Amino acid sequence: MSAKRDPAALRSHRWFGAADLRSFGHRSRIRQLGFDLADVAGRPVIAIVNTWNGLAHCHGHFPARVEAIRRGVLEAGGFPVEIPVMALPENFVKPTTMLYRNLLAMEVEENLRSLPVDGAVLMGGCDKTTPATIMGAISAGLPAIFMPAGPMLRGNWGGKILGSGSDVWKYWDEKRAGNISDAQWADMESGIARSDGVCMTLGTAMTMTSLAEVLGLTLPGATSIPAPDSGHARMATATGRRAVDLVWEGLRPSDILTAASFDNAIIASAALAGSTNAIIHLIAMARRAGIPLWLDRFDELSSGVKVLADIRPSGAYLMEDFFYAGGLPAFLTRIAHRLDLSTRTVNGRTLGDNIAEAKVWNEEVIRPEQNPVSFAEGLAVLRGNLAPDGCVMKPSAAEPRLLKHEGPVLVFDDYDAMARAVADPDLDVTPDHVLVLRNAGPLGGPGMPEWGMLPIPVKLLRQGVRDMVRISDARMSGTSYGACILHVAPEAFIGGPLALIRTGDVIAVDVAARRIAVQLTDDELLLRRAAWTPPPPRYPRGYGAMAAAHIGQANTGCDFDFLQRDGAILEPEIH
Ligand code: FES
Ligand code: MG
Repeated sequence: MSAKRDPAALRSHRWFGAADLRSFGHRSRIRQLGFDLADVAGRPVIAIVNTWNGLAHCHGHFPARVEAIRRGVLEAGGFPVEIPVMALPENFVKPTTMLYRNLLAMEVEENLRSLPVDGAVLMGGCDKTTPATIMGAISAGLPAIFMPAGPMLRGNWGGKILGSGSDVWKYWDEKRAGNISDAQWADMESGIARSDGVCMTLGTAMTMTSLAEVLGLTLPGATSIPAPDSGHARMATATGRRAVDLVWEGLRPSDILTAASFDNAIIASAALAGSTNAIIHLIAMARRAGIPLWLDRFDELSSGVKVLADIRPSGAYLMEDFFYAGGLPAFLTRIAHRLDLSTRTVNGRTLGDNIAEAKVWNEEVIRPEQNPVSFAEGLAVLRGNLAPDGCVMKPSAAEPRLLKHEGPVLVFDDYDAMARAVADPDLDVTPDHVLVLRNAGPLGGPGMPEWGMLPIPVKLLRQGVRDMVRISDARMSGTSYGACILHVAPEAFIGGPLALIRTGDVIAVDVAARRIAVQLTDDELLLRRAAWTPPPPRYPRGYGAMAAAHIGQANTGCDFDFLQRDGAILEPEIH
């Protein structure tokens, strides 16, 4: 090991180690920061990539965790530096954080490339911060380890347990149906998000951090620890310590991420009934790592995988319960026979080694395969004349009667028109209708917002209807549920077939057959296409215009084309 610990081999040595004019500048500026050369020289410089700002509601504990990570880095002989990057707080960023995932990925990549750092701890959790920081780190090519934010505590209101997102949608429907008062509703606001940490349902945040662990990018057990648990701070310190050794070992994300590790993540996501957003992010992450991953792989690997995590929105419990039941390592023992346990992880051991001692403590929360939460599948990829490049749905979150359905369409061209219509008590709609929202994709949204769980029209709510078939080119929050068909590609805004349908057309969905079709002839579709005119671009200038020029469709992961290109970028010249 000591032979490998050659300070001159450190990347940061190029800045600090030479005996030239430039190094004089770099060393004098380290002194300007209040450090002696001995604090830095010969030590791995570890960037603590912090997705925090004053509005980062799920990352309120990050300033304290930076200190815990810093302690670990120092203990292991490294030099910790905090690098703040965009925070992307899911609830506050408009029009949607998804518009900015690639910008954060670029920010992480370029920070790591341009600064004198040897490795990184990536702090993320709130939805897009996980894929974004990992995508950036993969492309930067430095040793990196992910430190997940951890879930918040269970919500609590009027003696009831509340789950992020899922219960908001549920009780909002009850409020619209007239079953919940304004005062009760206001009370819920204080009880639903009552600690630091990410949404404690299996939304996008907990899905993506769990998958980061399955991919091997976190220390074992890191993702399930609730943010306020003292174990979370201890894990942060251990992560900091490990980051230093990662540098000496030269272990990079590209050494860890393989086709097999992504297959493991897809299988785990299906057994968790994880967020549909994971599909887009995993495709983007895999392609950054040079691993071709396609939508159909999700269907292939998910088929036959039973949902074993009894966590909302597909189940009853919350992530705090999941942690007490043994957390992700215990969960993975339940699907171990489906996984490739030889994949490498960031602690230098295999996934199999990491879960060898794990035990399930509560079989209601982490189910055995003989007693799944649902026999319905966690994921299905559908195709047909309405979605030639595919679309996705989560059968386990839908009322089973809707998995084979045919009905007339009610089409909305934008969110506001839909919102007005569903509030109309006289809307011409039946429970058999198929609601369609279009122009909500990567370019049309813009940024593919989470509008995919179209609200049930109030007229039907009052009749007791709580689910119906809904189709869009949008995404859906991982905490949402229902017979929602999402990510229709190509999107309507660029002329996908979704742009061509009209209210009254009939759509047939057959999840078992993986088909989705509008009952129109090819000739009729061609005629309508000839009459279609593209809408004007959403952004005349700025980042939005750049994003529109380069973003891929949902089935390719929505990355920018120039970020997915092959080819290594050389280390910066130091002059
Ligand atoms: Fe931050 Fe859900 S809002 S994770
Ligand atoms: Mg979300």
